[in-house]
Formats: sequence, structure tokens, C-alpha cells
Amino acid sequence: MTAKERIRITGGDITKVDADAIVNAANTSLLGGGGVDGAIHRAAGPELVAECRTLDGCRTGEAKITRGYRLPARWVIHTVGPVWRDGSHGEDALLASAWRSSLALAAERGLRTIAFPSISTGAYRFPLARAARIAIATTITHLRENELPEEVTVVCFGEEAYQHYLTAVAAAD
Ligand code: APR
Repeated sequence: MTAKERIRITGGDITKVDADAIVNAANTSLLGGGGVDGAIHRAAGPELVAECRTLDGCRTGEAKITRGYRLPARWVIHTVGPVWRDGSHGEDALLASAWRSSLALAAERGLRTIAFPSISTGAYRFPLARAARIAIATTITHLRENELPEEVTVVCFGEEAYQHYLTAVAAAD
């Protein structure tokens, strides 16, 4: 299959997705928050934050892995995207790094399926179309160089995000 054929764009709630791993759009403390971070911690239960406490945080653009506990997903890959400022503070590179680090960790752990939310496009205010382009380009590059994960799903929480990620896949080289 081509790299593009291994990418799926769906709508819905990532906490319901039965993948080997779901990706959490966390903050550097890894101790929970609002948005998708809050939803994942609520669904996983208190053991998730207890394990996160042992990880000593996570730097922006990096990724760490925990078990999924009460989630249908076996693992949670926590990554921290950049806060959008004005595009001239390395935001694009840091967002690409968050996607790349998460994919690399999934491959390293032999995971076949992984689901991402639209990292940084909520509280962190990263422009949606720009984030989708960066996310899909980074994912395609990883998939062209790696057998794993076999399939990447982007779970969009709303029609606007869904359309931007579909467009980004269609427009990607
Ligand atoms: N499933 C899938 N996507 C979701 C869900 C969900 N249940 N809930 C929210 N989202 C979407 C949002 O609509 C947005 O498109 O996840 C995307 C990321 O938004 P945020 O969760 O706000 O994450 P981000 O912009 O990366 O900001 C991270 O917010 O929650 C805090 O602790 C987190 O400080 C960190 C910051």
C-alpha cells in the first residue's frame, strides 16, 4: 500500500478508538488538562495520571508512552505540540517533531495501528489548515520509510478539522 493509502481521516471521539495506541495532545507536565487531554484521562481512569507522574514530564515536540488502562487502546502516546504565537518561533518544526516522535515511538514498540487528534489546534491555537498540512506531510514521510505503524488514523473532533485533514491528504505529494 502507498503511504497515503495507510492514512485514514475520521470524525469522532478518540477515547472510543480501539487502536494499538492513541496519541494525547498533552502539556509538558503530562499531568492532564482540558480538551482531548482531559477526555483521555477521564476515560483511562486515575491509573493513567499515576503512571504519567513517573515520567517526569515531556518536552515540546517529544513523545512518551504509557498504558491505556480503561481505554480501548492498549497504549497512550503523550506528545506536546507547540503553542501558536505567530509562526516565527519554530512552531512548524515543533509540530512536525511531535508527529514524528509519536510515529517513531509507535514503530519502535512494534505497534500496528495508531490514532492521532489534531495536535495543537485547540487550546494551543495552531491554525488548522497549516497544522493539517504539516501533520500529513510528516506522517507520509514516516510511512514511506517505515513499515510500522501499518495504519495511521486522524480522529477529527468536528467537521472543520475533518475537511482540512482530508484536503491535506488529497493535496500531499
Ligand atoms: N477526540 C478527538 N479530538 C478531540 C477530542 C476528543 N475527545 N476532544 C478535543 N479534541 C480535539 C480538539 O477539537 C482539537 O481539534 O483535539 C484537538 C486538540 O485540541 P486540544 O485538546 O485543545 O489540544 P491542544 O490544542 O494541543 O492544546 C493542548 O490543552 O488540554 C490542554 O493539557 C492540554 O495544555 C494542553 C493543551
